[in-house]
Amino acid sequence: MARRNEPDAVPFTLVAFLGPVPVGCVSVCRDDRDADFDAEGPWLSGMFVLGSARDLGVGRALVRAAEERAAAMGHRELWLHTAEAHRFYERCGWRVARVRSALGRDAVMCRELAAPGSG
Ligand SMILES: CC(C)(COP(=O)(O)OP(=O)(O)OC[C@H]1O[C@@H](n2cnc3c(N)ncnc32)[C@H](O)[C@@H]1OP(=O)(O)O)[C@@H](O)C(=O)NCCC(=O)NCCS
Repeated sequence: MARRNEPDAVPFTLVAFLGPVPVGCVSVCRDDRDADFDAEGPWLSGMFVLGSARDLGVGRALVRAAEERAAAMGHRELWLHTAEAHRFYERCGWRVARVRSALGRDAVMCRELAAPGSG
């Protein structure tokens, strides 16, 4: 975990707390890429919220915080692949770059990031 957590660069991991209790996490990394989108990145991965803390906005807050942190580092896009949660990410403002296939390939999604200070 420490090796995968740069203070001001990718990779980084964010942990969400409700009071003193850690309830969710998300990472931004470079090694979760999809072969069809090899030149793209960085990649959002490891998104998870404890069952007891779901539907409270923690997931959205983690995605938004990861987007803001990546944008502050100068990144203009984030990418991810997901087996089942593409609707959650669409509601967070992401677009589908490749739909999930019946052959078991995950959906690939992209989020364009606003430059810091651009509103
Ligand atoms: C997906 C996940 C991170 C969402 O976290 P959360 O804290 O519950 O999210 P929020 O409270 O911010 O948002 C909840 C909304 O997302 C929706 N949602 C949650 N999981 C979803 C899914 N798999 N597909 C579609 N929508 C989903 C909820 O129905 C809810 O919708 P609403 O706001 O219209 O009521 C969480 O359900 C989770 O950890 N799931 C298991 C791991 C997982 O699927 N990770 C993503 C892998 S890419």
